[in-house]
Amino acid sequence: MQELDMIKKAFSSLVFYHYFFSAFLALPFVINLITLFTYKNFVALNKKIWYVMPLLFFLIAVSALSGLNLLAMQHNFTSLKVIAMSFYLGFVLFGEIYRIRLLKVAIRTNEEAMLEYVKKAKILYFLDLLGFILVFFGSKSAI
Ligand code: HEM
Repeated sequence: MQELDMIKKAFSSLVFYHYFFSAFLALPFVINLITLFTYKNFVALNKKIWYVMPLLFFLIAVSALSGLNLLAMQHNFTSLKVIAMSFYLGFVLFGEIYRIRLLKVAIRTNEEAMLEYVKKAKILYFLDLLGFILVFFGSKSAI
């Protein structure tokens, strides 16, 4: 009985850890959107987004690893909540890789290509933020 209580405690601490770090995932999207709407030149824009990238990848890694730990503990692979969270995290990760590849080409092309990159980055971060609101508040139970 005491062992079961300890397992339950460990699980709920891990859920809280996962929940706490996942909540910060919205921060890089908000910062990048503000940057994209207020930048003065492309050099400053690229620099600011570059500095936010480690935070974003750190939060993606923490969410994924703590989420996988939770999955290993509860074995509920087919829950709609878990599928939505995994799909969303995959979308954010591949979206970021797509944005970096787009920037690499645009930076060597011309101003028009950079403006096109800015437009696509705005759409991407807007979708990331919208997805975050849907997935985070959709998965949240009374904690
Ligand atoms: C690989 C990615 C992820 C996996 C495998 C995963 C897995 C899980 C699991 C197994 C749970 C416990 C489910 C339950 O209580 O039934 C959970 C809870 C939760 N996850 Fe994730 N997750 C992932 C990513 C995310 C992301 C990106 C977010 C935020 C947008 C998120 C937000 C939450 C929230 C809010 C809860 C519920 C906490 C509560 O019970 O109130 N997760 N996750």
